[in-house]
Amino acid sequence: MRNIAVFASGTGSNFEAILHAVDRGQIQAKVVLVVCDKPGARVIEKAEAAGISTLVLKPKEFPSKEDYEKAILAGLEEKSVSFIILAGYMRLIGPTLLQAFSGRIVNIHPSLLPSFPGLHAIEQAFQAGVKITGVTIHFVDEGMDTGPILAQRPVEIHEDDTIDTLEERIHAIEHVLYPETLAKLINEKE
Ligand code: GRF
Repeated sequence: MRNIAVFASGTGSNFEAILHAVDRGQIQAKVVLVVCDKPGARVIEKAEAAGISTLVLKPKEFPSKEDYEKAILAGLEEKSVSFIILAGYMRLIGPTLLQAFSGRIVNIHPSLLPSFPGLHAIEQAFQAGVKITGVTIHFVDEGMDTGPILAQRPVEIHEDDTIDTLEERIHAIEHVLYPETLAKLINEKE
């Protein structure tokens, strides 16, 4: 059984979806750690309520990004983590973690990459007037929402959509697609 760590900065709805998928045996892994860069983020209470250890570190309290990531790395090693799952972690992963977890860091992004990378992807698509956007799951490299794509699912933008209604449908797809994709990647083959 693989140990996974979820990195998040916000609400943690994808974290919850992953946790449920672990509980029902869809993802054969154990969530051993939640790493968060935002003290007070809702994902922290959710992790605590589920009895999962949290590592909450403020990047600004470290002299460099390297030092910040080294502190995270120590936490990951202590828990024998095999995969890093980014779920709304609002920061670029640096060389320290990329080298240590090469090919073992996954991210979810709320657009059909390479369209609309970066912040506010749902709003970006909505404002651009495209008729189809979606969700992408990809391996993480040094870029912003780049890296080999593992899975994508389209979401239509309806005439009467608002950003809120669109966001709701995108999240609903995320909560299905992320567990499905992680199961394929992580579950040990017979
Ligand atoms: C999701 O839309 C995800 O695609 C993006 O950040 C959001 C996180 O939402 N990277 P949540 O914290 O999982 O609810």
